[in-house]
Amino acid sequence: MSGFALERLVPAHVRAFEAYVPSPPDDVLRRRFGVAHLHRLNNNENPLGPPAASRAVMARWEVGQAAQYPQGDGWHLRRAIAGRFGLDAEQVILGNGANEVIAFVIKAFCEQGDNIVTADRTFAVYEWLASFSGVTPRLVPLRADGFDDAALLRAIDARTRVVFLCNPNNPTGSWWDHAKLARFLDAVAGRAIVVVDEAYAEYAEEPGFPDSFALMARHPNLVVYRTFSKMWGLAGLRIGWMAAAPAVAATVRKTSISYSVNLLALDAAREAVWDEAHIAATRAHVREMRAGLAALAGRLGLGMIGAIGNFAMLRLPIPDTVAHRRLMARGVMARAMTSFRYPGWLRVSFGSAPAMAAFAEALEAVLAEG
Ligand SMILES: Cc1ncc(COP(=O)(O)O)c(C=O)c1O
Repeated sequence: MSGFALERLVPAHVRAFEAYVPSPPDDVLRRRFGVAHLHRLNNNENPLGPPAASRAVMARWEVGQAAQYPQGDGWHLRRAIAGRFGLDAEQVILGNGANEVIAFVIKAFCEQGDNIVTADRTFAVYEWLASFSGVTPRLVPLRADGFDDAALLRAIDARTRVVFLCNPNNPTGSWWDHAKLARFLDAVAGRAIVVVDEAYAEYAEEPGFPDSFALMARHPNLVVYRTFSKMWGLAGLRIGWMAAAPAVAATVRKTSISYSVNLLALDAAREAVWDEAHIAATRAHVREMRAGLAALAGRLGLGMIGAIGNFAMLRLPIPDTVAHRRLMARGVMARAMTSFRYPGWLRVSFGSAPAMAAFAEALEAVLAEG
């Protein structure tokens, strides 16, 4: 008889954690909802795709290279990123998506019984990673749909290791400007690592948006996250990065996984750095789609929030889960926000013009059903 007792081997915080279940692939969803096509407006992807130079690299990629390991820590890409932001290459750490970099930071700074501080309605991965690592997530309520600086400061205690700010915030699109972030860092005064997740920073056109890399010299506890998934249209290749002061980066490097970023992602991302024309074209597209969505919200009498980012939220007169199902049956995927603690809201990514037109038509029909 096997003496295997699974429960005995699983830490209590893992036992208590409910696994995240990703949605099924599009072909399965299409069959399930009986539609020939699904417009993807649920994951904040860039409908313009990757920049031209990244596409060219992928098109001429020699498939035999797949047999080789990539260089272990993204030597060339780290130098390209560092050069763009006036950093040293040693300050940059790559990951298999920004998600992996979140894990590196929690592993580097937290042990069981410690806590992280973040908002209750923000990108959920900070909370999840903390929870299944035996670290307590202290979730501070948003204030007027934005991160509440005073309440976050009150939540920091002697066991706080990391404060996660999402700027702009996913899903609300709210943001802190440079002065506010600088004041917050002054007030934290080095008591914890402060992560600023800037997954959507390249969408910010506002002149007051933080220059976080400049703040790093004065605040060596500051860590900045970026990703190639959003502006750069490389979500499927899974590549993101962080930058920090040299001593902090050296600490995080200890808990980072070498070789976790694949060869194609490294090559494609290196060509994307830093294509201003791609940024300009994507921003122009977002401006146009945002105006269209605002007009739709006005026509249907729906509240809309979201200042920066390639997404916005709409307040619905019906449950978001019902709206989600009905939209799916019309071939449109948007994000029902109950699971983000925003019941009654829908998050919509600014997709292609045809996808946004399909969404507008479908939403109007869904709401007409009552
Ligand atoms: C705020 C935020 N941070 C990080 C990520 C994860 O990015 P990646 O695709 O690089 O793992 C996302 C993805 O949706 C995000 O919205």
